[in-house]
Amino acid sequence: MRMFLDSAHVNEIREALDMWDIDGLTTNPRHVAAAGRPINDILDEIGEIFSGTEKPVSVEVDPHLTDWTAIVEEGVRLAEISENFVIKVGAGEAGYRAVQELSEHGIRTNVTLVFSTPQAWHAARCGATYVSPFLGWKEAHGDDVSTFIGEISLLYENFGYPTQIIAAAIRNSRQIADAALAGAHCVTAGVAVYRESFANPYTDMGHRVFGDAWNSITQDESSD
Ligand code: E4P
Repeated sequence: MRMFLDSAHVNEIREALDMWDIDGLTTNPRHVAAAGRPINDILDEIGEIFSGTEKPVSVEVDPHLTDWTAIVEEGVRLAEISENFVIKVGAGEAGYRAVQELSEHGIRTNVTLVFSTPQAWHAARCGATYVSPFLGWKEAHGDDVSTFIGEISLLYENFGYPTQIIAAAIRNSRQIADAALAGAHCVTAGVAVYRESFANPYTDMGHRVFGDAWNSITQDESSD
């Protein structure tokens, strides 16, 4: 399962590439707003950071666009900024039609804001490269997400759809493991969630136990 960072903070992105060799990036308007810089500057810089790599970078079209031709126009403009850019389009009738058009023009797409298996099916039918089911948002509103990724994965497998599943809006390490076991091709999460996924309280305990043992060994040596 590929590891994507969900962020628009360029320092964070550079660090995640350096430390974790992340496989790609996803952004959304909220991340761009949180980065506190003009969107065009951020997109240019992110394009440069990933230039020369095969790593995909999902960038979202203006969510206000309701006409599919306007979504296509914006998608084409964004795709011209960087070869790495994958056009992120919100689920919905106009979005799916735009994804179909973009796919026919060889532009990679990521259908975002997906909350049901039929929405994921539409994304695949339209030729989306990626689909982003939002686990955290669904769970926060009381929905059971335990079968969500598995259902999409089975549907795609049954009909041979090549669309890749990005498990999105991930809030903890458990969701990362569940997504992987259910067949997600990729996961996207923020830095804090990944940090948590590297750690475990038993590992911390083990470091203390072995650290104490190490101290006793070195003390024995120094008293010889
Ligand atoms: C995925 O591509 C989205 O950017 C993301 O996971 C949205 O959720 P969040 O910002 O609430 O984590």
